[in-house]
Amino acid sequence: MIILASDNSKVLSKEIARLKNFKLVSYFSKNFPDGEIYIRLNENIEDNKILILTTLYPANEYIIKLLFLLERFSDKTISLVIPYLAYSRQHKEFLENELISAKLLATLIEKFNVEKLITVNVHSSEVKNFYKRINFINLSAFEEIIKFFEGKFNLVVLPDDEEDRVKEIKELSNNYGFEFFYLRKERDRYSGEIKTYLDNEVSVKNKSILLIDDMISTGNTIINAIKILKKLKANKIFVSCVHGLFLNNCYRKILRYNIVKSLVCTNSIENQFSKISLANLISQRI
Ligand code: R5P
Repeated sequence: MIILASDNSKVLSKEIARLKNFKLVSYFSKNFPDGEIYIRLNENIEDNKILILTTLYPANEYIIKLLFLLERFSDKTISLVIPYLAYSRQHKEFLENELISAKLLATLIEKFNVEKLITVNVHSSEVKNFYKRINFINLSAFEEIIKFFEGKFNLVVLPDDEEDRVKEIKELSNNYGFEFFYLRKERDRYSGEIKTYLDNEVSVKNKSILLIDDMISTGNTIINAIKILKKLKANKIFVSCVHGLFLNNCYRKILRYNIVKSLVCTNSIENQFSKISLANLISQRI
């Protein structure tokens, strides 16, 4: 099979191509002076089946690039790997008259000949319901992260109480034998401001903590959690997430805390912190 790799997912595409023994094809792209996007494939693709791998970050640019590729190969059977599926926050109206961006993206992708979409730790698992025809596979990289840090921590902390994540970490804590707890986060739907609370009595003193989230965007969620754990006299914190967006270089703010010993994410978004590869996890489902 051919993997057509987007220019923002080069490392992961290369690893998957090697693991699966697939041929890797890339494209050249540039912007016209007005910002419009131009794409030229680096070679002709004859195969009838094709795997397109693109993460959707930065979202708007890469959604357009994805649409270019889907349209170009509309006569072929397409498998799609989108490690970071953008526009997955808004799967419903939280406030009256909000538009549902997750539904729009699904509707667009479903117009093409895509048979399977593999993604990783999609922000809201409900997004799956918008994919009526396509086989939507939502993998989790939490176990990869736990394995990466194995032996270094004795307590896992989640910075919020999102149900699916709590459930998954609970299962992993049984399998791998670590303690865990979660904080509670409240978000003001108008201002976006968040507040984080510790509801239960927990013993954190002198513990080595793996603080783990699905994504770090502005960094505010993780920083709130770091502040609480620092106050409780934790010994050290390893910060990790699946999708490292790190807006406005917020990794600097995170690493400013001496208690934070490392910051690591997966290569769903490729950057200087993406040290955990998703290649094995994804390859098993292709
Ligand atoms: C929220 O529900 C997610 O799990 C993340 O905690 C959140 O998206 C992180 O965003 P930020 O880094 O902007 O606080």
